[in-house]
Amino acid sequence: MATPRAGAAAALGHLLSALSRQQQRLWSRPSAPWERPSSIRLLSGTAQASAPFLRGNYREVCERAAREPGPFWGALAREALLWDTPHHTDCEWDFVQGRIRWFLGGRLNVAVNCLDQHVQHYPDRVALIWEKDEPGTEEKVSYRELLDMTCRLANTLKRNGIKKEDRVAIYMPVSPLAVAAMLACARIGAIHTVVFAGFSAESLAGRINDSECKAVITCNQGVRGGRVIELKKTVDEAVKNCPSVKCVFVTQRTTNKIHTGSRDILLEEEMAKESSVCTPEIMDSEDMLFMLYTSGSTGKPKGIVHTQAGYLLYAALTHKHVFDYKQDDIFGCVADIGWITGHSYVVYGPLCNGSTTVLFESTPIYPNPGRYWETVERLKINQFYCAPTALRLLLKYGDEFVKKYDRSSLTTLGSVGEPINHEAWQWFYNVVGDGRCTLVDTWWQTETGGICIAPRPSEKGAEIVPAIAMRPFCGITPVLMDEKGKILEGNDVSGALCIAQPWPGIARTIYGDHERFIEAYFKAYPGYYFTGDGAYRTKKGYYQITGRMDDVLNISGHRLGTAEIEDAMDEHPAVPETAVISYPHDVKGEAAFAFVVLKDDTAHPETVTKELRAIVASKIAKYAVPDHVLVVKRLPKTRSGKIMRRLLQRIVTGNVNDMGDITTLDDSSVITEILDAYEEYKIKHPTL
Ligand code: PRX
Repeated sequence: MATPRAGAAAALGHLLSALSRQQQRLWSRPSAPWERPSSIRLLSGTAQASAPFLRGNYREVCERAAREPGPFWGALAREALLWDTPHHTDCEWDFVQGRIRWFLGGRLNVAVNCLDQHVQHYPDRVALIWEKDEPGTEEKVSYRELLDMTCRLANTLKRNGIKKEDRVAIYMPVSPLAVAAMLACARIGAIHTVVFAGFSAESLAGRINDSECKAVITCNQGVRGGRVIELKKTVDEAVKNCPSVKCVFVTQRTTNKIHTGSRDILLEEEMAKESSVCTPEIMDSEDMLFMLYTSGSTGKPKGIVHTQAGYLLYAALTHKHVFDYKQDDIFGCVADIGWITGHSYVVYGPLCNGSTTVLFESTPIYPNPGRYWETVERLKINQFYCAPTALRLLLKYGDEFVKKYDRSSLTTLGSVGEPINHEAWQWFYNVVGDGRCTLVDTWWQTETGGICIAPRPSEKGAEIVPAIAMRPFCGITPVLMDEKGKILEGNDVSGALCIAQPWPGIARTIYGDHERFIEAYFKAYPGYYFTGDGAYRTKKGYYQITGRMDDVLNISGHRLGTAEIEDAMDEHPAVPETAVISYPHDVKGEAAFAFVVLKDDTAHPETVTKELRAIVASKIAKYAVPDHVLVVKRLPKTRSGKIMRRLLQRIVTGNVNDMGDITTLDDSSVITEILDAYEEYKIKHPTL
């Protein structure tokens, strides 16, 4: 790929002097007296998330954070971020109305925090190591180069009419240009929505239309696991139905020619013509930074909105303290930027801290199952963060693929996205980490912006219990609720996991639908944020996540609503209704099982089930396709017509002797009918 570095060296002097002029303007902008209490100094120099909140006793700090969240985070925000104008009010919140605002009156630019401040002090420090699909072909990008790339891209967006508050979809795999695209939006105040490059054209179009994106940024093709992925073709198909899109910016990941449509703009060519200086837009703390779509319990994904200062502060502090990140460490989070983990721990957290962050383009098994560990050896990665599903896959291949590589650089290992089972935890800890690295199971969500429960930070030498997330981060106040909405006190209790007070990283709304935001997160337990997860508080007071309490599946660490899959399948003309449930899967964690009812006159049920799989792949994504599709005559329903998915789940998980309360079931003979069909199906599918 032609990295747009041309002229970077020549432009350096000009860039740095422009930068320092720019920054002088930024840092010395006078603020009205009411915006700047006398106790607050305007920040200058490098602000980094090296805030002192962990000096002293961890427990006391956490107690103070819980007692006075506003002043606690307020002081951290002043110290850890670089402001144009510091805030005058720490926080305003109302969990009944789902209204949360942090650092009011504050003004800053996220790209300046992630780039310019580091360029001023250490321009040649490596910001990104792009670990490309083919091992050994990595590319390094310094902070100066990333700023150059970001400014040129930002100027290209501006020249094509993109301005503050416009929405821009990014449909790209991880690459320096994808990171620059995110930061370019942040620099000019546009709102990015990154769509995972595995989503189908229809999913992409749905997200673009919901957020009325004015532009899409994509690649001609993607490359992953040695295979080429036709990204531009998918975008072409999607934007046919997206009237809001005025331009499609296309970068060249491969040498293949791009078919150019009337809206297409060749990004690298345009960037080369632009200036490498772009004055940052000064944003209010609570202006939108990005939205990211995630699944809920209805068929329609939600555009979760994160804002500027609170999100950035929380991503940076958790990155630093949960992983014990130290300057000059190489941070390796192998998530895709299409998910929140990629946003917070590949891009915003590490870059705000001036880190070197790895962009992993490949798969855990390409070209062989030693890929992660060979990468660790070659790049000398210090912190390695991945999903349990990858560990479960890799441990099947044996220890040799790990042991042949030098992993002595590793200090912290992290897992995210789904519960980590004991076998995977022990393998990660003992085989990958040689029993000497800290291993953190981190619990959080798209909505929380950053890690909320994790074993670290903690007091020196404090124990880590295998396979549980354990300790709330400072300022996070977990509460467990019983079925009646009463708070469960004491230890050794299980309930619905809620959080009692806001923290800066919490989402602010669902784009275009604040009512749904209230409904989804603040209605079930009034006055509390409901996570949708259940949790157990152990005898020692640690938290163990037990899984989703709503109709959301977690397939390989990715969220998917059962309703989304059902809605897609229901569109088949031969299918009057479907019910999708999850069941445990030894690699994916959970997999989808679909029960479908066909119209009486359906001649070829096998053809229909094949078509159903294809429909799900084209309407959502390949990973959403159910592993099993079983045709049944009827579904179990209550007298009021609600499908009782829990009964189907018990059949699939072999708990038929414990069906629970079936008094509301309309006709109990349906159970025997489905059981018979299931037994017959199992004979044909012995791996089930
Ligand atoms: O059910 C929890 C599970 O993943 C959900 C959040 O998914 P998403 O928004 O896609 O974000 C994933 C990456 C942060 C949660 O509601 N989850 C996440 N981490 C863990 C987890 N379940 C158990 N243990 C975890 N460490």
